[in-house]
Amino acid sequence: MKIPDLGPRNGSHPRTFITLLFGTVLGFMFATFISSTTLRQPWMPESYRQREPPSIVSDPHTGNELRGASGPEQDVGQHAAHEEAHAHENASIAQQLHREVRVLCWVMTNPSNHKSKALHVKRTWAGRCNKVLFMSSVEDPLIDSVALPVSEGRNNLWAKTKEAFKYIYQNHLDDADWFMKADDDTYVVVENLRYMLYSYSPSHPIYFGCRFKPFVKQGYMSGGAGYVLSKEAVKRFVEDAIPSPLCRQDSDGAEDVELGKCMEAVKVLAGDSRDTVGRGRFFPFVPEHHLIPNHVDKDFWYLKYTYYKPDEGLECCSDNAISFHYVSPNQMYVLDYLIYHLRPYGIVAHSQPLPKKLSLGDIVRVDDLGKTTPKPSAQQHRRYKVSSNRGKAGNEMQEEVTFSDMKAKEPNT
Ligand SMILES: *[C@@H]1O[C@H](CO)[C@@H](O)[C@H](O)[C@H]1NC(C)=O
Repeated sequence: MKIPDLGPRNGSHPRTFITLLFGTVLGFMFATFISSTTLRQPWMPESYRQREPPSIVSDPHTGNELRGASGPEQDVGQHAAHEEAHAHENASIAQQLHREVRVLCWVMTNPSNHKSKALHVKRTWAGRCNKVLFMSSVEDPLIDSVALPVSEGRNNLWAKTKEAFKYIYQNHLDDADWFMKADDDTYVVVENLRYMLYSYSPSHPIYFGCRFKPFVKQGYMSGGAGYVLSKEAVKRFVEDAIPSPLCRQDSDGAEDVELGKCMEAVKVLAGDSRDTVGRGRFFPFVPEHHLIPNHVDKDFWYLKYTYYKPDEGLECCSDNAISFHYVSPNQMYVLDYLIYHLRPYGIVAHSQPLPKKLSLGDIVRVDDLGKTTPKPSAQQHRRYKVSSNRGKAGNEMQEEVTFSDMKAKEPNT
């Protein structure tokens, strides 16, 4: 029997060991790389990253794209109230709503964003809220931030949301009727928020935002587009949901999904924030993203997540839109200018009449119908307008009647 010659093999043992070690280390590094880039939790839209469109500087799709962005050192200043365009402005209805629909805005931020992001929220839209709170983990006189007892980082956002609402519940519950959460890269048109909320009562257990479909039966509201809770919803969240095992108890998780689960657990309704013709009002991207047709792949995560079918082009967005996300600090000033200053001469807008107040019964009915009926097409809008002008809406127009009823029904209570 031939004895295998092990001599040379024995001699190669150290090399085999090095090769093995090298391979193991390389394999481990590769696995870590793969898991850190693709194996995210299923609720994270980033899992679609590989199918995302190439990023366009003016239309970011992730927070990372805005990481380095900051705004001007110096405030951009103000126009004087007596200047021509402003002197003729009539803001009496907006002022009435400022008194009647009180909104506390709280902005999720962190120490490294105080100066680069949150400050520009403070200098632009946040001043229009009845009360604004910057929620951080460090006090900072620059933005009067609240130091919540939480650690920073993405895996503590859920803890921060819970602590923020607890803080509000303990210190500011009577300062407002509605409580709006926004990020430090969210832009909010506060007057339009009040206009939408006018129909509802702060005692309704309801919340609104950009409604997403997965993970929660009634859907949940995108965190980035911001969401607004009624006073009753805040009470239920802090008193019933946070202590309940139905609500995630640790710090981790996607804060918007977790909030959505808690809201459902304590029977807070996911409201329909679309306008009377079915156009959206809360948006998880900048206006450009929603306005320009076909610039994202059909596989883009938002198209799979959105509760209502999104429309492209000008149909996308309500004339009374409320929020946009991934807005750079500089862009906050641009939006402020476009929304509150730039005016086409000779066109004077009149405020549409205030809508009727809704009862809880009206809201539930409308919502149930809204779930099963698609948004009316532009063609149907026109037909509906004609038929309603004639004072009769045919059966084939059932769904449009539903949307219009939302603003037209007398409250039952
Ligand atoms: C401002 O608008 C309100 C409501 O539309 C109207 O009642 C009021 O007369 C207007 N004020 C002026 C000065 O035009």
